[in-house]
Amino acid sequence: MNKRTFVCALLALALAGGPALAQEAPGTIYDAHVNLHDIASVQRGGRIFFNYCAGCHSLNYMRYERIAHDLGLSEKQVMTDFDFNGVKFGDHAISSMPAADAEKWFGKAPPDLSLEVRARGENWVFSYLKSFYLDPTRPVGWNNTVFPNASMPNPLWSLQGVQTAVFAPAKAGHDPQVEKLELSRPGLESPEQFDRTARDVTAFLTYVAEPNTYERDRLGLWVILYLVGFSLLAVFLKRDYWKDIH
Ligand code: HEC
Repeated sequence: MNKRTFVCALLALALAGGPALAQEAPGTIYDAHVNLHDIASVQRGGRIFFNYCAGCHSLNYMRYERIAHDLGLSEKQVMTDFDFNGVKFGDHAISSMPAADAEKWFGKAPPDLSLEVRARGENWVFSYLKSFYLDPTRPVGWNNTVFPNASMPNPLWSLQGVQTAVFAPAKAGHDPQVEKLELSRPGLESPEQFDRTARDVTAFLTYVAEPNTYERDRLGLWVILYLVGFSLLAVFLKRDYWKDIH
């Protein structure tokens, strides 16, 4: 295939794939700018998670104890800030909502979120949390442009406020498409503050999906110190051995 046919083939592929791709991603995906080294952000995210999400969602693979250790929090801080179900410090973070009830209430059991960021990516989770809008046609009363027809009510609406959808003029034979979302009732936080909140929760879930991040950093530091120490030792030894030969 020469260069020209190759470019034509690429163009044809892009044209054929374009509209289909656009339909798959109706909601905008924003950059989450998660920074796991901003430990205060991850701690705030943990606090929000256990206050606003853990009623429905579990983190099956995480123990409270482990979270405290990794995020540099004391047992007391984790147990007062994060937990209100009377669980033990060594327990896994399991939601108290029975899956069968959840399915009855929402039509779908809330999935475990331990590996959510690995499955969907941090930008997706961040954008999902920002993209809820009021939709009286849905059983939960909410819809979402990033995850259309999700069976999850907006958990952070009191902070974000209420968004409503502005629809593009419907084409014959098609359902109306959401053009953009508008903040129709402000929440407790400004849009900038809410971005930080959504970023913090995403940061916490990113840590949860890669819990060895901090352990690896600590280990990495020791490895570097060891290598530096060993190199110095080698230099001194060499000097000492060569001293007599010169
Ligand atoms: C009232 C119960 C409830 C609360 C509270 C709740 N969720 Fe959900 N969540 C659900 C349900 C039900 C689903 C399944 C949606 C579906 O598949 O249609 C879901 C799905 C999700 C998903 C998508 C999972 C996927 O399919 O990839 C994410 C991410 C998520 N929730 C994050 C959160 C976060 C973060 C919070 C807290 C800020 C939260 N949820 C609070 C019920 C809840």
